[in-house]
This record gives sequence, C-alpha cells and structure tokens, in this order.
Amino acid sequence: MVNKRVINVGIDLGTSRSVIACDNGVRTYLPSVVGYPKDAVARKLFGKDIVFGDEALKHRMSLEMHRPFDKGMLKIAQDLDENSPEYKRAIEAARALLKRLIEIALEADPGGGSNVLVRGVLGAPALASRKNKKAMLEIARGILDDVMYVSEPFAVAYGLGLLTNAFIVDIGAGTVDLCRMHGTMPTDDDQITTMKAGDYVDQVFYELLTKKYTDANFTVNMVKKFKEENSNISQRGDSIYIELPVKGKPVKHDVTAELRLACKAIVPDIVEGIRKLIASFDPEFQMHLKENVILAGGGSQIVGLKREIEEFMIEKLGYGKVTTVEEPLYAGANGALMLCRDMPDEYWHELKDRAK
Ligand SMILES: Nc1ncnc2c1ncn2[C@@H]1O[C@H](COP(=O)(O)OP(=O)(O)OP(=O)(O)O)[C@@H](O)[C@H]1O
Ligand SMILES: [Mg+2]
Repeated sequence: MVNKRVINVGIDLGTSRSVIACDNGVRTYLPSVVGYPKDAVARKLFGKDIVFGDEALKHRMSLEMHRPFDKGMLKIAQDLDENSPEYKRAIEAARALLKRLIEIALEADPGGGSNVLVRGVLGAPALASRKNKKAMLEIARGILDDVMYVSEPFAVAYGLGLLTNAFIVDIGAGTVDLCRMHGTMPTDDDQITTMKAGDYVDQVFYELLTKKYTDANFTVNMVKKFKEENSNISQRGDSIYIELPVKGKPVKHDVTAELRLACKAIVPDIVEGIRKLIASFDPEFQMHLKENVILAGGGSQIVGLKREIEEFMIEKLGYGKVTTVEEPLYAGANGALMLCRDMPDEYWHELKDRAK
C-alpha cells in the first residue's frame, strides 16, 4: 500500500445503467447489460467472448443477454438462493461489468493504471438486505482493492453537500430510493425504497398502448426509448405522436394521454414514501424536509414531475418544495467518489476486513 498510488472511484451499479466517476477525471457509464455470443458464428462476429452495454444491445440477436441488476436481482431480492444458476450468472455478469468500468477508468489514467490501488465506494439501494450486501461485496472482490458501499440516496446527498434538512428521491429504473437527511449517517429508519420507478412507467405505457392500438406492433424497449425523448406530465404542450408499424408500415399514433398517465403512475407511491418518512420525524423539523425535496436519477428527467410531486405533497402533506439535481444520471456516482476521497484510511482497512 505504501508505494502504490490510490485511485478513488465512485460507482453506481444501476438497474439500467452503471456509472463510474473517478479521481483521474474519468466519468462514464455503460448500460447494465452483458452479452455472451450464442455460438461459434457469433463469437467470430465479435472476436471476443463478452460484449458490453450499447454494443450488446445493438447485437442482441447474436447474444445471450444478461441484466444482472434487473428486477432487483442482487440488489433487493430478499430470498436469494446463492446456489442457483441464475444467481451465479448474475454475479458473473455483474463482475464482468464492474471489471469493464474499472478498465475504462484505468485505460485513461495518465500513469497507465499501473502500480495503483483502486478504492471504490459502491452505491446500493437503501432496501438491500444483508444477503444483497454480501452479493455486492462478492462482485467487487478481486476487482477493487478496497470497497465500501453506501445507500444510493445517501451518496446523492453527500455529493450535493446536503447533509441536513434535505430529502432525497432517487428515481431509477428498478427502484425509487427515498432518504431523509438530518445531519448524521442515515439509518434504515431514514430510508424507504419503492418499486414503481422508470421500468414501471414503461410497463404502464406499453400496456395502455397495447389496449388502445391493437393493430400496431411494438416492444417495451421501443416505448421506453420514446418515453426518454418525450416524457412529459404537464398539461400544456403539443400532442405527442409515436410512429409504430401497422402491418409493416409506420403509422403515427397519438400517445399524449397515455404517456402522461404512465409518467404520473409513480407519483402516489413516491409521495406516500415521503409522507411516511416525514410523519415519523421530529415535528419541529418536518417543515425543513418538506421544503427541500431533491429529485435525482434518470426518472427525475420527466418534464413536469417536480410540479406534480409538489401538488401531490400539498394535497397530502400541506406543503412541498421540490427541486431537481443538475446531473441526474451522475449524482450517485459523483457522491460516491466524494465519499471515497473523504473516508479516512483507518476506515478502509476496517471495511476491507469486513468484506472478506
Ligand atoms: N429523459 C428521460 N425522461 C424520463 N425518464 C428517463 C429519461 N432518461 C432516462 N429515463 C429513465 O430513467 C431510468 C434510469 O435512470 P437511472 O440511470 O438513474 O437508473 P438506474 O440507476 O439504472 O436504476 P436503479 O437506481 O433503479 O438501479 C430508466 O427507467 C430510464 O428510462
Ligand atoms: Mg440508480
């Protein structure tokens, strides 16, 4: 350790994308997808045994695709069977993904990534059980030299310097993680995870369109992409049309009301989570939390969501002031990197031992 240079990395292993922010200035992400060539022809096509992120998505017909964090697997499943093939596959895919992210960070390192000690803070959902924590550590073993992991919304709060009187709502693909910050390290009582997040919006949108346009052909993935480019809750604005094939020919379909309904579908559970965490807090400080609700994560980019949550909060809680972070996709990894830098050396040793 004495002779090695330390590189700090903050990592947010997300259901839909995994983000890394690194001391040496590297900041990037990969969709959380790993593909293995299906046969010898596919292997020849890629010239390698494993394909990541966008490349995997583009060539998914030739690949066996794995999304290690999908549906909460590894992150929030309470009943993980550590001997099942699915679990082993998910761990393997997650390790490959993390290894690739670290490689990217080290490739760009001015010293060529040699003679370094890589120290990482991993973000995990607030709800993760002991078993999930074990899984996260297993993923990092042998890839990171030292590791600690923290809840995702806490990483966001830390990165923004919001350590007190703030309420973080991290809207991801698989989960919404809520956390109240009151000047100390948040405990389990300060956090709630709800399962209605970006993937749920896609599912609702898809189902509404399936019912309305029975002739059209489309997949969840197609409507998800469309959502990301057009998501809007506000009543104002033009009608929104999507082009979907009908008997092979692209036809324009009006999806204004369906997109709006789907995007709004996550709001009641979010506000219920906020309500629970505020109601159980010291009444003298409840107002401070209501005044400072911060939205982060990819899902926070839905236009009009901030307003919708405020209105719901006014109805349920009498008041609500909501803001959105500037870099929703990087907020977790940025915060994890800051934590990584700030943690004293003694702490790391202790955590390393615990990880074994
Ligand atoms: N412009 C946008 N409008 C609405 N939703 C968006 C937009 N861009 C991305 N999303 C959605 O944000 C979600 C991804 O956000 P993020 O990258 O924060 O999730 P994640 O960290 O991978 O998931 P999780 O935190 O649940 O593990 C996806 O559901 C995606 O469709
Ligand atoms: Mg996330």
